[in-house]
Amino acid sequence: MAGNKMDNIVNLCKRRGIIFPSSEIYGGIGSTWDYGPIGVHLKNNIKAAWWKSVVQERADMVGLDAAILMHPDVWKASGHVDSFADPMVDCKRCKRRFRADHLVEVLKTEEDAVRRTAEDLKDLEKALAEVMCPECGGELTAVRQFNLMFKTYMGPVEESAAVVYLRPETAQGIFVNFKNILNSTRKKLPFGIAQVGKSFRNEITPGNFIFRTREFEQMEIEYFTHPEEAEKWHKYWLEERFNWYVNLGIKRENLRLRPHGEDELAHYACACSDVEYQFPIGWSELEGIANRTDYDLRRHMEISGKDLSYFDEETQERLVPYVIEPSGGVDRTLLAFLCDAYEEIAGGRGEAGAEVEIVLRLHPRLAPIKAAVLPLVRKGGLPDVAVKLYADLRKHFMADYDEVRSIGRRYRRQDEIGTPWCATIDFQTLEDQTVTIRDRDTMEQIRISLDKVKDWIRDKLECIG
Ligand code: GAP
Repeated sequence: MAGNKMDNIVNLCKRRGIIFPSSEIYGGIGSTWDYGPIGVHLKNNIKAAWWKSVVQERADMVGLDAAILMHPDVWKASGHVDSFADPMVDCKRCKRRFRADHLVEVLKTEEDAVRRTAEDLKDLEKALAEVMCPECGGELTAVRQFNLMFKTYMGPVEESAAVVYLRPETAQGIFVNFKNILNSTRKKLPFGIAQVGKSFRNEITPGNFIFRTREFEQMEIEYFTHPEEAEKWHKYWLEERFNWYVNLGIKRENLRLRPHGEDELAHYACACSDVEYQFPIGWSELEGIANRTDYDLRRHMEISGKDLSYFDEETQERLVPYVIEPSGGVDRTLLAFLCDAYEEIAGGRGEAGAEVEIVLRLHPRLAPIKAAVLPLVRKGGLPDVAVKLYADLRKHFMADYDEVRSIGRRYRRQDEIGTPWCATIDFQTLEDQTVTIRDRDTMEQIRISLDKVKDWIRDKLECIG
């Protein structure tokens, strides 16, 4: 198939109702995407798998769903008002805007002349003194800090006292509820709080489909520990989160852990490692797992004046816990699952002509549709039996029904959205009440009783789940 892998995935997503460009009939709005009838299930299944693994199956975790709009002081305390910014320069001629540290990066690779000094504006300005616009050669402005938080106004009056921010991370909703959760659940250290929700960042360079967008969803854990145990738990979560991706089918060779260098650490972290995935754009961050120390709780204590310490009844000691934070993006994770599952088979697999066929080999737990019911032909009473089976299956899991065009084409359609099993009703079904079940990956077909299909699929989902 012509084109690069990312373009082909974007095309498949549009064609099969997985992901659409947002506001498309108005020409789109840069880098925002809508999840379609198939994509919404994939996204929900990823969030459900994460929730099951980090909340439901663990005794040391609880969940939370905090508001997106928070008191503006939260972002002063967290450091986001002062530090959550990218250094930018504008071209005076063509008016394009660039990340100053990226221009220095380019210089570094091209001329090996300057060091990366993203945090230090003076050094950046010095390094950029001779640099011209990479697009038109025009002169660049001085470096300015550009805060990534979206601002809006609470209530009808647009004045500075009414400024609130759309949260740039879900984490702060957890920190400000630390005491509420301690008091209401009586959890003891170590324990964690998990949350899934939307975050917003006015990214300067969004792109690469859903990899970097301005509105995105995060799956975050804040795991509270005794300070002296933080390192141990950091290692534990690195392994735990790495394995989560592997257990849901991501190929091990496409994943790696990469520790951050000192100059890469966020303002709140003393250590961080990323789980990286080998995307078509190269190795990139999938999830960051940071040791946030006691930075956030202490800052909130300082600014709010409230006590957020923890009393250890065993040691009779009062302390401010350290926090290990595994923080992943739902959309980015979904893209990794799509890239890993996507396979083009040149010449096809013999069921429907000899073109290129696409198979989305998603883990069955993530597959948007678990089973499709297909009558072999649209006559002889086969659709009646199939419709009945479809009605039964969809009470238990997402199922689909398709009677249009040849059976080979219908298998291909299901392969393209990752449906693990197709149940086909044929004339033998009318004689002996059996159906064929076709496997997406092996194309093997087995025959089972019509009245066993539901349990057969449920058992499969259970035993691989
Ligand atoms: N609370 C820590 C935190 O937010 P981060 O590394 O800035 O850390 C965590 O973000 C994860 O959120 C990233 O690993 C990525 O998966 C996702 N993420 C961050 N910015 C994103 C964006 N602009 N678009 C899509 N996903 C993003």
